[in-house]
Amino acid sequence: MRHLLSVADLDRDAAVLVLDTAAEMAKTQGREIKKLPTLRGRTVVNLFFEDSTRTRISFEAAAKRLSADVINFSAKGSSVSKGESLKDTALTLQAMGADAVVVRHQASGAPHRLANAGWLDAAVLNAGDGTHQHPTQALLDAFTIRRHLRGPDVGDPDGVGADLSGLHVAIVGDVLHSRVARSNVGLLTTLGARVTLVAPPTLVPIGADRWPCEISYHLDEVLDSGPDAVMMLRVQRERMGGPGLAGAATSAGFFPSPLEYTRQYGLDARRLARLPEHAIVMHPGPMNRGLEISADAADSPRAVIVEQVANGVAVRMAVLYLLLAGDREKGTEA
Ligand code: NCD
Repeated sequence: MRHLLSVADLDRDAAVLVLDTAAEMAKTQGREIKKLPTLRGRTVVNLFFEDSTRTRISFEAAAKRLSADVINFSAKGSSVSKGESLKDTALTLQAMGADAVVVRHQASGAPHRLANAGWLDAAVLNAGDGTHQHPTQALLDAFTIRRHLRGPDVGDPDGVGADLSGLHVAIVGDVLHSRVARSNVGLLTTLGARVTLVAPPTLVPIGADRWPCEISYHLDEVLDSGPDAVMMLRVQRERMGGPGLAGAATSAGFFPSPLEYTRQYGLDARRLARLPEHAIVMHPGPMNRGLEISADAADSPRAVIVEQVANGVAVRMAVLYLLLAGDREKGTEA
């Protein structure tokens, strides 16, 4: 594999390999000295056209812990705000000798263009494109689910419990705008899990009935069916584009009011109590506390939201390692 653009790039064995490699990386992250020499002399560019907290610092930490040089490029404050094209930006990165480009872009498909247009020799890692894909988020979610529900030491690719078969994951909320939901439906089902999407009809994308999952409009029914993990999605008001959108308060007709949304689709302590004892609560962040998840649900002992962030570093180390270190071995042999 040269790039990681979509979870569709990963079959079951490739996904398990990433998770197993991430488990090895996670072990090194418990040490006092967390840095490995693996990518010394390699350059990783973080190319972020869209806002990000977790994903950007997670990729930065991952690359640094593998001893790569990291260049952070955000569109704000760069020549992109002077109208520079994706192509010219790519040619600049190529001239600087980037070995990997981690890209987040508001346009679905931008990472594919970067990878396939012939502008760059670097490996391209999709860190979220529009409403399309966010493969490393799905990988860190799968890693977190596997750790909690299968045990921390699954490392044998053929062993029982290496994948997620038999588990049931509910993904709840603004599926329409969510690259996290799309990526997770693909990856979790590749790994053998059963996925149920729960959303108001207005936030289910057209065509989702052909995805390899079930769809429900009733959160309480799905919670009562005993899912092993519940993944809450952020209500992405910045993508709802209603009239007078100032970035914050509108729901632009997707649901009657925030209160009504919370009443029907919000996770709170009362709903948490309907879940099986072992079930975990996830959220990719950033959370709208009080909208899709209450503070007591977000901070409850069964929430693994902070662990998802920590696991993100190990998973991104694994992906960078698999894309770049293998490549270097080939390079030195030649
Ligand atoms: C997600 C994203 O940006 O797609 N966040 C993340 O990467 N941690 C989800 C979101 O923004 O709601």
